[in-house]
Amino acid sequence: MFTHPNLTVLDHPLVQHKLTLLRQKETPVADFRRIAREISLLMCFEVTRGLTLEMVPIETPLEPMQSPMLEGKKLCLVSILRAGNGILEGMLDAVPNARVGHIGLYRDPKTLEPVEYYMKVPDDISERVVIVVDPMLATGHSAAAAVARLKAAGATQISFVCLISAPEGLGVLTTAHPDVPVFTCAVDRCLDGHGYIRPGLGDAGDRLFGTK
Ligand code: URA
Repeated sequence: MFTHPNLTVLDHPLVQHKLTLLRQKETPVADFRRIAREISLLMCFEVTRGLTLEMVPIETPLEPMQSPMLEGKKLCLVSILRAGNGILEGMLDAVPNARVGHIGLYRDPKTLEPVEYYMKVPDDISERVVIVVDPMLATGHSAAAAVARLKAAGATQISFVCLISAPEGLGVLTTAHPDVPVFTCAVDRCLDGHGYIRPGLGDAGDRLFGTK
């Protein structure tokens, strides 16, 4: 079992139950999409646990009081296209004011290196807590490249969120970016020869968008 000080595996029973529903091959597209959204909403609570609060004066209908509110840095969620969009929505359900960035990467067939084809993030990303989302951490190369691009754009506080990870991908990401906390619902057995996570859930993009 892969372990790393920066790795959190979300073992909440609701998360684990919903992940099982996602893995099942007979789960229809509409259910898959809804459940992915539900899980990512739950994951968002864990990922944002470290946000700091400040006491502010408010008035209830009955009396004034000091009450906690989020302070300081604001959030930016960054979706790695296209499957990242499937867990973006659930995260936004929890943090509707977060800004959103997108990064598109494809694998060069000759070099097998990730090549960026799209990137749009807020100008003030250096002042934001950044949460990168992609359902499957497989080889880890796209994740590591996306984090590197965000660091180059100025981001300093970055976390990575996925539903399922392969030990190989965790190794690549945590070696390239030991400062980046990784949150996942499961660490599966391995990658297969086609780059799929086993047992996994198949192609997350195809299952989210019904493209196969
Ligand atoms: N991407 C997916 O969608 N599924 C995998 O198993 C690996 C990468």
